[in-house]
Amino acid sequence: MSFLTGRVLVIGLGLIGGSLAKALRVRGICKTVVGYDRDADELETGLRLGVVDNIASDLLDEVRQADLIVLAVPVKAMEFVLADIKPALRPETIITDVGSVKGNVVRAAEALFGSVPQRFIPGHPIAGLEKSGVAAADETLFEHHKVIITPLPQSDPEAVTLVSRMWQGVGAQVLRMDVERHDEVLAATSHLPHLLAFSLVDTLAQEQDCTDIFRYAAGGFRDFTRIAASDPTMWHDVGLANKQAILQKIDEFSTGLNRLRSAIESEDSRAMLGIFTRAKASREHFTKILSGSAYTQNMTTKETTFFAQPGGKVQGSIRAPGDKSISHRSIMLGSLADGVTEVTGFLEGEDSLATLQAFRDMGVVIEGPHQGEVKIYGVGINGLQKPPRPIYVGNSGTTIRLMSGLLAGQSFDSELSGDASLSKRPMERVAKPLRLMGAVVETGENGCPPVRIKGGQQLKAINYEMPMASAQVKSCVMLAGLYAEGETSVIEPAPTRDHTERMLRGFGYQVDVDKNKVSLSGGGSLTAAKIDVPADISSSTFFMVAAAICPDSDITLEHVGINPTRIGVINILRAMGSNLELLNEREVGGEPVADIRIRYAPLKGIKIPEDQVPLAIDEFPALFIAAVCAEGETVLAGAEELRVKESDRIQAMVDGLKVLGADIEGTPDGAIIRGSEMGGGVIESHDDHRIAMSFTIASLRAKGAIEIRECANVSTSFPNFVELAQQVGIQVRKEEK
Ligand code: S3P
Repeated sequence: MSFLTGRVLVIGLGLIGGSLAKALRVRGICKTVVGYDRDADELETGLRLGVVDNIASDLLDEVRQADLIVLAVPVKAMEFVLADIKPALRPETIITDVGSVKGNVVRAAEALFGSVPQRFIPGHPIAGLEKSGVAAADETLFEHHKVIITPLPQSDPEAVTLVSRMWQGVGAQVLRMDVERHDEVLAATSHLPHLLAFSLVDTLAQEQDCTDIFRYAAGGFRDFTRIAASDPTMWHDVGLANKQAILQKIDEFSTGLNRLRSAIESEDSRAMLGIFTRAKASREHFTKILSGSAYTQNMTTKETTFFAQPGGKVQGSIRAPGDKSISHRSIMLGSLADGVTEVTGFLEGEDSLATLQAFRDMGVVIEGPHQGEVKIYGVGINGLQKPPRPIYVGNSGTTIRLMSGLLAGQSFDSELSGDASLSKRPMERVAKPLRLMGAVVETGENGCPPVRIKGGQQLKAINYEMPMASAQVKSCVMLAGLYAEGETSVIEPAPTRDHTERMLRGFGYQVDVDKNKVSLSGGGSLTAAKIDVPADISSSTFFMVAAAICPDSDITLEHVGINPTRIGVINILRAMGSNLELLNEREVGGEPVADIRIRYAPLKGIKIPEDQVPLAIDEFPALFIAAVCAEGETVLAGAEELRVKESDRIQAMVDGLKVLGADIEGTPDGAIIRGSEMGGGVIESHDDHRIAMSFTIASLRAKGAIEIRECANVSTSFPNFVELAQQVGIQVRKEEK
């Protein structure tokens, strides 16, 4: 057996020291584990229970022989133990500790040795039980728990590695922090909740009828006060050792509690709901962070792969989730409106949830989403508050670009950042017109996120001729225009989606449209409205194309938004010969809606009219699949914008389709696709939701199985895609790691 080290001496054989000793023994990480404790009974118990190999009768003698010493005594006792063992310490012996405060141990070591010894590596396992003593020692205590080590600049790298490997050896994940940060973070996340639990139980215990209170205490009380059964000496010591940071957190907590108290006293429902909804959202967000993801379960941190079997047909009637563009805008405008905006059909995908979270961070009370329903308590056009930290928008280009405009007009500074894929996308396209309006906006390297905005600027209106057809840029300038002096106009080179214009009008704001020019004047206000978000035509597209390419298919997509600026896909599919009907056409909340029925009919290749490109911009990955299944050649040009979407969509589709053996050539601004057979293969979706979904439907006509990698971002726009795909007959399954 190869040991990590020879002789480990654990000083303090309580729960933590005992559990570590036992884990080291059980896992064979060192040759010998020796225990020392002032309490002879504890030591005997440790030996009897097999927690240690030996017990130390003479502490200094053991210190002389030890290769690694673990100090597992209460934090206030650390300095005395260090002083006791100093005379026998060899320079090569490594020391670490398990205290939940680090500053005091480091200061004590400094005072004692002149400077902290190079081989003393402070540590803190974030694990525990509501039991104490060596009898409770549990060799699995550290498995899947974090251990923070706080090496100092002078620390010996070899010692740092050995201490890290010891903790990894007992199943822990090792993180590094500096000493001060550790104590600040722990004051908030561990020390404050423990002290509150002790204090609450103590306060209630002093009430006269406390027996009744405890007798009838339900789950809430038990959950909240579980940690008040922890070791009193340990928490006494922590309280003193981390005094300053803890006092600061207690003060912050008291301010928060007083805020809640006043809200209840004055029956201020809005303030109360604000506190509860923000807390609930943060708690859920936090739970997801702990489970390795954010916003919703499948965020990019999980590796998600789709496996699609070849063949099949699609049939049935389904409703795709809510329109992403409209969902974003409903939160933004609802937040800026006076009054309460009620939204139905809201997309509960990661992108629109990122927008929702951003507005909560700016003080807007938002209830939901619950089954697509959201209630936004608007704060008025000037009512947003400075967010407490940079706003993180995940994968969402729409959030970052539209919000840049909106934030440019605020009185406070702000910063927007996103995930790895968003961090590669161009932001100068919005920064440039905003600067022309007098905004102070900085972008990161190569003009990509983060976007930093300096507040407090008086914006002035501009007349902006957009160099590219982009609804995001147009909307960004219009939202900044709400705060600008004078009339802001945007001229677009080709029509792009006009949801911002429509929704602004729905909120009572005047927007003028004259051919390709849209204008609004700053300084107005918005009035809350009801918004019914139709199903997203972009999400519905995957099923439209699925039916269009697959014999015997017949599918109806319900309640789809068919805004004229979004129906390029319908026009293109029809031009290719597809059998597509619009049923039950109606208008819902300012947006045209219909049920779309598609039945299989043979497709033929076409030259895609360039005026349709901006109207189908998000639908091309799926349309590429339709083109491969059509007879003859399909030519796409004028679509260079596809290269700066969530991935370079031209490249991603060309590469993927070539893997399947299809006949396709990329061009700088599009592709030439010839009707051809597809086999199976492994596809990289480059974390792009639409690439992942397009190759899933390709399987209907492929001759072999398709494995699609990096599919986690499907949940940015279509969280239940796999379930709906299975429901209509696509043989796909999802694996998450
Ligand atoms: C969107 C506009 C489009 C589109 C994106 C959503 C919007 O982007 O691709 O998915 O909601 O305004 P561009 O404005 O960059 O074309």
